[in-house]
Amino acid sequence: MAVTQDELYAGLDLELSWSERALPEHVRTKHVHRLHPYHGKFIPQLVEVLLDRYFTRGAHVLDPFAGSGTTLVQALESGLDATGVELAAFNCLLIGVKTAEYELPLIREELNDVYERVGVQPTKARRASKYVSSWYAPQARAELLAFADLIGEYVYSDVLRVVLSRAARSARRTTHFDLEAPRAPQRTEYWCHKHKRTCRPVESAGAFLRRYTLDTLARIEEFAELRGDGCSAQVLHGDSRDVEYGTAFDGVLTSPPYPGLIDYHEQHRYAYELLALDDRRELELGAAAAGTSRASLAAYTEGIAAALANAARACVDGAPLLIVVNDRRELYPEILDRAGLVLEHRLRRHVNRRTGRRAGEYFEDVLVTRRA
Ligand SMILES: C[S@@+](CC[C@H](N)C(=O)[O-])C[C@H]1O[C@@H](n2cnc3c(N)ncnc32)[C@H](O)[C@@H]1O
Repeated sequence: MAVTQDELYAGLDLELSWSERALPEHVRTKHVHRLHPYHGKFIPQLVEVLLDRYFTRGAHVLDPFAGSGTTLVQALESGLDATGVELAAFNCLLIGVKTAEYELPLIREELNDVYERVGVQPTKARRASKYVSSWYAPQARAELLAFADLIGEYVYSDVLRVVLSRAARSARRTTHFDLEAPRAPQRTEYWCHKHKRTCRPVESAGAFLRRYTLDTLARIEEFAELRGDGCSAQVLHGDSRDVEYGTAFDGVLTSPPYPGLIDYHEQHRYAYELLALDDRRELELGAAAAGTSRASLAAYTEGIAAALANAARACVDGAPLLIVVNDRRELYPEILDRAGLVLEHRLRRHVNRRTGRRAGEYFEDVLVTRRA
């Protein structure tokens, strides 16, 4: 028998559980949070509430698995300083672009200038990688490579790298319903489960490049109005198990990778290919490619514990370490123990699932821990 709403809500932290109506897609992806899609992030509103409950203005928060930078962006919005550690180079690029302070007249001038040049500049003859040759139609490929050639001419070149990546994601030869993790290029028309009609793979990238250039500018301008004065964020590109922190933090807010679920480098493969980014996937904790064998879970447990212990050592005495997880394999009692952390509370939240393709109730915990 299905549970009643009252039964479902008993034991939940309702301030951390939102319905689709209360928190529609455009609110969850407000301002810079949507500079580029990222599979596996937590929602900014969760971070907002937790920062408000456990930190004071002016504090310095650490996220040792910074991902797309949700903690850092929200820290800036809440008047805190923030540091993130992230292994994947593309994620570091994205975080840097989201959290940088811009000279607004200059970024407006640059993005409007590049907008006018999309599709005008011929590509210098250069060999596309095997990946680029097979995943893009000839026109899309030429437009993306021409845009890539322009990037170095601008002060805010990293912003253009993110625009290029977002357009490259949209312009892949793929089906509309499988943008997150397409397995092979789609070269012919296909029956689209999303639009319930026959669709064709994308031929060109120009419209995406133009649209995302203007959208990125608007989002950066919007966030510039909201960020706290004098607050700053930095991202350390490294492995959170052994990165050296040169400062003391007032606490941690993080969502570690899950075992065997998502490949954080592979999901942005197009960016690594087009921008020649450093690939460190062999150090990814919990990578899908490693699977969930007993040995993989043991390595995962050891790795997450080492990263949390390293973060905890960098915190002031009594600091809260908040860990957002769905621990369905019950690995966290051992992880916390190994990391020298004590569980103080477990806050349970209901996660609103957006698509019918991922059916079923889903819950997540916020583990409120402190150093033993
Ligand atoms: C669940 S995601 C974090 C998402 C983040 N909360 C957000 O909202 O964007 C976990 C992140 O941990 C990163 N990661 C995996 N292994 C790592 C390691 N050894 N050191 C640092 N980061 C790592 C992955 O690249 C991924 O971006």
